[in-house]
Amino acid sequence: MALTVDEAARVFTDPSAYADEPRFYAACARLRREDPVPYVEVDGYDPFWAVTRHDDLLDVERDLTGWLAGPRPALGPKGYGDPDEVPVRTLVQMDPPDHTKFRRVSADWFKARNIARLGDRAAELAKRSVDRMAELGGECDFMRDVAMHYPLYIIMALLGIPESDYPRMLTLTQELFGSNDPELARGATSNTARDTLLDFFEYFQRLIEDRRANPTDDLASVIANAEIDGEPIGILETVGYYLIIATAGHDTTSSAIGGGVAAMLASPDQLKLLTSDVSLVSTAVEEMFRWVSPVKQFMRTSIGEHVVGGVTIPDGGQVLLSFPSANRDETIFDHADTFDITRDPNRHLAFGFGAHYCLGTHLARLETRAFFDELVPRIVELEPAGEPEFMRTLFVGGPKHVPVRYRLR
Ligand code: HEM
Repeated sequence: MALTVDEAARVFTDPSAYADEPRFYAACARLRREDPVPYVEVDGYDPFWAVTRHDDLLDVERDLTGWLAGPRPALGPKGYGDPDEVPVRTLVQMDPPDHTKFRRVSADWFKARNIARLGDRAAELAKRSVDRMAELGGECDFMRDVAMHYPLYIIMALLGIPESDYPRMLTLTQELFGSNDPELARGATSNTARDTLLDFFEYFQRLIEDRRANPTDDLASVIANAEIDGEPIGILETVGYYLIIATAGHDTTSSAIGGGVAAMLASPDQLKLLTSDVSLVSTAVEEMFRWVSPVKQFMRTSIGEHVVGGVTIPDGGQVLLSFPSANRDETIFDHADTFDITRDPNRHLAFGFGAHYCLGTHLARLETRAFFDELVPRIVELEPAGEPEFMRTLFVGGPKHVPVRYRLR
């Protein structure tokens, strides 16, 4: 049965809505048409307005002085993100002047030229992942067996974390971002996200101490030894920095890769097109980012009054930026609900925009392309071995299971 506009606006506070993509996208389409900036008031959440259109989302992101990322950078249940609840400060919740200074610490590292140096390493890790897929025989859960691991290796290599700790980091990241999904959450208590954060904290605190005592040329050393205004950065901010890089760099990209494969399985003509012409990998990867939109939302708080999509947001009002909805905006994308690997240009907003524009875009593109550059020419056959299942989430996500049957060269 079709949702009412009020019900449609509630998808943003319902983790299971993201696990049911047809329902989620139908709700967003209805909102974009009839109530593009709805006011959402749901028990357990502070009220907010949801921004569902591409142009409106860009207007908010482009206005660098009109909105704050803090104190509520992303939607979570009431109290989520309180300073005593989350013991670290990360880039996503900072505003100028701190944000500008902290972002500068690693900005050079993430520039295209520096990231390009990682091309060979990414190709090697991609080959290892596809070899592993081949070793699994003709069937696997592509998400859990392949897509989950590969971006973690890349980001851990970048940070300089020893390979023996990769499995532990994988578990912690999944627990943190999967904590709305019963299958991925650590346990049944309400404090699980906090416990996971504390484990991260302990791990990274040791890493910082080590890199301060023995600096190397890895990214962990750059952060541990960075100074802002002539002072070393605080422990909470340093841990926060590692945390955002280790986590933001992981689930996002694995969701894009797993979701990209799920999309191709659902559109066999696109898979066929890609395997017949590997030069389409670049545009295919952009379409995967648009289609999957692994980051579901960020929030902004209004400084003064603003009109967004015809709706007046008062001073201190909070808006949720729905990246997946903007990425299906039919006024921007032709046949927006079709997965089209030849789409070019592709003005998707999967990486956001403006001051907080994803720091890892060059890396995400490099590693996702490297993966498909390796996989696609090796595909003899690739078909679904069951229905994909999507994560319950409020923040970052994509598929959690993508059963596949295949023959690889
Ligand atoms: C497909 C993969 C990825 C997607 C879809 C994605 C998406 C996003 C989005 C939507 C934002 C917020 C932008 C905004 O507020 O306008 C963001 C921020 C960020 N991303 Fe990514 N990201 C991806 C991969 C990565 C990778 C590989 C890294 C690093 C290793 C990374 C690091 C960050 C950081 C540090 C921020 C915070 C920037 C700030 O607040 O200034 N991301 N990302």
